[in-house]
Amino acid sequence: MDKLVITGGPRLCGEVAISGAKNAALPILCACLLSAEPLMLSNVPDLNDIGTMLKLLAQMGVQVERQGNQVTLDASGLHSPLAPYELVKTMRASILVLGPLLARCGEARVSLPGGCAIGARPVDQHIKGLLAMGADVGVDHGYVVARFAGGKLKGARLFTDMVTVTGTENLMMAACLAEGDTVIENAAREPEVVDLAQCLVSMGAQISGAGTDVIRIRGVERLHAASHRIMPDRIETGTFLCAAAATGGDVRLTGTSTAYLDVVIDKLMDAGCEIVGARSRSLESIHLIAPARLKAVSIRTSPYPAFPTDMQAQFMAINAVAEGTAIIRETIFENRFMHAVELQRLGADIKIDGNTAVMKGVDRLQGATVMATDLRASASLVIAGLVAEGETHIERIYHLDRGYDHIEAKLTTLGAAIRREKA
Ligand code: UD1
Repeated sequence: MDKLVITGGPRLCGEVAISGAKNAALPILCACLLSAEPLMLSNVPDLNDIGTMLKLLAQMGVQVERQGNQVTLDASGLHSPLAPYELVKTMRASILVLGPLLARCGEARVSLPGGCAIGARPVDQHIKGLLAMGADVGVDHGYVVARFAGGKLKGARLFTDMVTVTGTENLMMAACLAEGDTVIENAAREPEVVDLAQCLVSMGAQISGAGTDVIRIRGVERLHAASHRIMPDRIETGTFLCAAAATGGDVRLTGTSTAYLDVVIDKLMDAGCEIVGARSRSLESIHLIAPARLKAVSIRTSPYPAFPTDMQAQFMAINAVAEGTAIIRETIFENRFMHAVELQRLGADIKIDGNTAVMKGVDRLQGATVMATDLRASASLVIAGLVAEGETHIERIYHLDRGYDHIEAKLTTLGAAIRREKA
């Protein structure tokens, strides 16, 4: 297995382009299943989860053409509404094919994603919603098996027990071809849900309220060809901002914007960073200038628009070397502090009590061998490695490759001393 070797020390300086959002691209790729006409996408990031999703769609009969960051999908020849364990087990987001497959084909067989390093992550809310729309859904030999009799799913009033991003997306896609009106209450308000809704609307869907906690969908007969540009990745943006902040850097990120990042930007400013023109939502690039030493900042994760759980690990890395004490509360996932143990190996002072971490910044971290445990945990280890004394070796970086587009190349552009060693 490949590993990353980072020599800590250099300040990150310069300019780098942010890629399209993984968490928007994944559901939008699945949206192609709803139509027999092509879907043309641009700004699709080059990372392993996208490759896995394209493989999954191709084996169902979708024709996939990929040229750089452009992907064209044609599901006119869709023949097999099946998502097998071999592909689903590497990527939980594969569950996003369930709603569109069922709506278009009247049946779907999708492997249960199973456990996950960051918590149990069940899909009961996806299933509950589809049941309410008249589907017959059960679990058979590890697969969610869904079908319905008659021509169409039935529009319904849906309420999820908790805010679920992919749950909202799955149900919104299923409802596009249902008979009548569907209302999703307690819907996720994440920008990626809005990006998916915009793509679906350009395919002919009738959706209102995306971005609020009540989404209304009026079912239509069919969806048609469309093209859509994937929004910038706000988590990649936040990760590079944290890397720049931790190293005392001066970095401009292009192809992204301050929109959707209000709370992350506020916290970075609380930590002492200057973000040029931060208050303008229309900024087309973000310029961060870090102080010589950051101040510790406390965070509490919650659904959008509050602080994203996908940025928690990166803030743990910057607090590890900041001045003062910070409290980090994780409220979305029950087991998302695994990076803390690895950061401790680098010398971080962290005490964990349930879903709370109390951190006292230290003057310096020291390079060591650490292990990546999930996608964002890996990013936090990279940030810590960039400021640790000496060499940090990060093993199991396949997690990082799932969700970051050419991260070493981008960091190298900014002056980091980082290299990949092939196993
Ligand atoms: C998505 C993101 C992920 C992010 C997470 C929370 C994608 C591809 N992934 O994951 O990067 O960390 O949102 O912002 O967009 N839950 C249930 N039952 C369900 C569904 C969810 O109990 O049926 C629970 C989960 O275990 C978790 C919480 O609800 O505790 C939120 O999970 P959810 O928003 O569904 O996360 P994902 O959509 O899987």
